[in-house]
Amino acid sequence: MTSQTASERLRVALGERAYDIVVGPLLIEGAGREILPLMRRRQAVVVTDETVAGHYLAPLRDSLAEAGIMHHTILLPPGEETKDLDHFGRLAEDILGCGIERGTMLVALGGGVVGDVAGFAAATLLRGIDFVQIPTTLLAQVDSSVGGKTGINTPIGKNLIGAFYQPRLVLADTGALATLPRRELLAGYAEIVKYGLIRDAEFFGWCERQGNALCAMEPDPIRHAVMTSCRMKAVIVAADEREEGDRALLNFGHTFGHALETETGFSSRLLHGEAVALGMVLAFDFAARLGLVAAAEGERVRRHFAATGLPTRLADIGLAGIPAERLLAHMGKDKKVRDGRIALILPHSIGDAFVMKDAPVEELSDFLARAA
Ligand SMILES: NC(=O)c1ccc[n+]([C@@H]2O[C@H](COP(=O)([O-])OP(=O)(O)OC[C@H]3O[C@@H](n4cnc5c(N)ncnc54)[C@H](O)[C@@H]3O)[C@@H](O)[C@H]2O)c1
Repeated sequence: MTSQTASERLRVALGERAYDIVVGPLLIEGAGREILPLMRRRQAVVVTDETVAGHYLAPLRDSLAEAGIMHHTILLPPGEETKDLDHFGRLAEDILGCGIERGTMLVALGGGVVGDVAGFAAATLLRGIDFVQIPTTLLAQVDSSVGGKTGINTPIGKNLIGAFYQPRLVLADTGALATLPRRELLAGYAEIVKYGLIRDAEFFGWCERQGNALCAMEPDPIRHAVMTSCRMKAVIVAADEREEGDRALLNFGHTFGHALETETGFSSRLLHGEAVALGMVLAFDFAARLGLVAAAEGERVRRHFAATGLPTRLADIGLAGIPAERLLAHMGKDKKVRDGRIALILPHSIGDAFVMKDAPVEELSDFLARAA
């Protein structure tokens, strides 16, 4: 197997909703062949964004045409704003306007935004039609395209309207990452490191050794990291599809991160993965303050993120000195809040995270007031 041609495959074991994740290069060019056997009707609607379309729509369309799949294409504007109710409404009408039936396949080609919004359309139109994820950002390949969380944002909060709805197939074409801006690549890398931090200390060690090669887009480290991340996510999702237990660990760093994203207006000022990187460092620091983890562990994580160029301090994102109450108020709106109590994912060590259902809010407030 050479890194130029080999692809690998793993299965998400969800009974009759089980599906394959394929990881490797040139998968967009071969998508028609992969999708055809899953189709109940030779009709597809491709949903993508304008940026991704410029790079990858033509090869995907060629591949669908070669496989004899009739298809329509819908372009969305790129960016998080596309995940709002207005865009979703227009998208739903455009898809229905293509004359779809229950057997039509929706194909989401793009990053997490396209995957989330198109996935939610698949979950709801005609009470559910099949869909395939072709993730083109590193974040989408290692996280958002796997596991079936779909949804859109509201002014009250992010991802508050949505559904658990599994795709029929995920094609993670690692070749598509070649055109991804470095900042987006790093944001996805933060989610890769997350898997090591919550479950697999050895994988975190691998990240320390291979992170630079991965961020320099070397194909073998990329494929290894995407496969390892998807394998871990697949196991967690298969055991707890609706996040009633261990799946919550995947939210490590996210409650802190969402507060930072809320403060920066969910804008390009702070990408989701950047917020998660800083959120994970804050989770280590807070756990150290509670005496749950050695402070040196958090320092090791901070060193690694800083070496790759991810933010590790509030000052790095221009939020030094932000009042603790503001962040706490944002954290209070997170979906992980139950009965006014804040649940946090915290580490016992690198490779071992747990859910603290009722984090001490006063300690948290004091911690945030001192965070720099
Ligand atoms: N469903 C889930 O489980 C889950 C998990 C994590 C994140 N998310 C969601 O994912 C979204 C973030 O996803 P994202 O980081 O992929 O952002 P994104 O979809 O906005 O993509 C980032 C940018 O990169 C561009 N792009 C995508 N692929 C490209 C490529 N190959 N080459 C060049 N440019 C490319 C896009 O046009 C966009 O401008 C958020 O809305 C977040 O809530 C969902």
